[in-house]
Amino acid sequence: MLVVDGMSFPPNSRNLTWQTLRTTAKPEGASEREMGDLLPHRRPPRILVVDDQPSIAGLMSQLLGMRGYDVVTAANAEQAEAEVERQVPDLILSDVIMPGKSGYELCREFKDNPATRLIPFVLITGLTDSGDKLRGIEAGADDFLNKPVLAEELIARVKSLLRLKEFTDELETVDSVLCTLGLIVEGRDPYTEGHCERLATNAADLGRHLRLDQDSIIALRRGGYLHDLGKIAVPDEILKKGSNLSAEEWGVMKLHPVTGENICKPLKSLRLVLPIIRHHHEHSDGSGYPDALNKSEIPVLPRILQVVDVYDALRTARPYKPALSHEHAAQTMREESRRGLWDTELVSEYFFMLERRAA
Ligand SMILES: [Fe+2]
Ligand SMILES: [Fe+2]
Repeated sequence: MLVVDGMSFPPNSRNLTWQTLRTTAKPEGASEREMGDLLPHRRPPRILVVDDQPSIAGLMSQLLGMRGYDVVTAANAEQAEAEVERQVPDLILSDVIMPGKSGYELCREFKDNPATRLIPFVLITGLTDSGDKLRGIEAGADDFLNKPVLAEELIARVKSLLRLKEFTDELETVDSVLCTLGLIVEGRDPYTEGHCERLATNAADLGRHLRLDQDSIIALRRGGYLHDLGKIAVPDEILKKGSNLSAEEWGVMKLHPVTGENICKPLKSLRLVLPIIRHHHEHSDGSGYPDALNKSEIPVLPRILQVVDVYDALRTARPYKPALSHEHAAQTMREESRRGLWDTELVSEYFFMLERRAA
């Protein structure tokens, strides 16, 4: 076994010296099948290697580059952040102990950020204490590699994590297709322009203000786009009428939460969004639809989105009503929450947040 600066290579790659690694154009160790694995990608997967030792970063880069991966290196956490900012990678391999921020801190940072949380993060550690591994798990690491790193093990892990990444990317694409569909539904009613985006932003802000966990905040954001997706099945003549619906038309309109839930149901990634879609028209006193739930039965996420949704509707002009001022909308919602429509505490928290934001 060849060990170079903490990196080990299996016997079959013994003939690859640093120089040949550097200059070999055609990968000696990569079989046609391995290269073929990369063919379905539109571009080679991008891997970010973070290590303060240039020799290790260089060797890993060469080894992965030989397999067709697009590899970039960073010597510390700050450089890694800048690289991710420049172009988001498909996988990050990071050393644990580095000058400045540690690999744990870098991992936690990326996992806390919705834009980077789905990038698989592998910690490469020379530490053998199980406590260190626990710290890595707590930081959100997806996998670990021990130093000295075995070339075969490295490639096997990289391949399996990239397969997982490809799968989550596909789910993300389906998510974004549905969100776009939400915007198209919104676009059928010219009076609701920008409603979904405002709702997504404000509902996520209220979630953060209430110190909810990251998954709930993401669900609120998606809920902003998807809550009225079921209106796709509501004919234009009913959707654009807005008010004075006949009993029959009202019956059709009231189906949209269940229709929307059914469209999104097959997607596991939207699990937390489904109750938002289904219950965003329930009322605390049980007078809402589709299930006539009372406050204790309505999950908190739909109650949050509802407060933000109602406020936005009050603040927007419609053919049958003018836009209300912030003060008038706040007064209306406080009265309606006392009458049993909306969650009183969430209404106060939302106005506390909006007024603090405006101050
Ligand atoms: Fe709705
Ligand atoms: Fe809405």
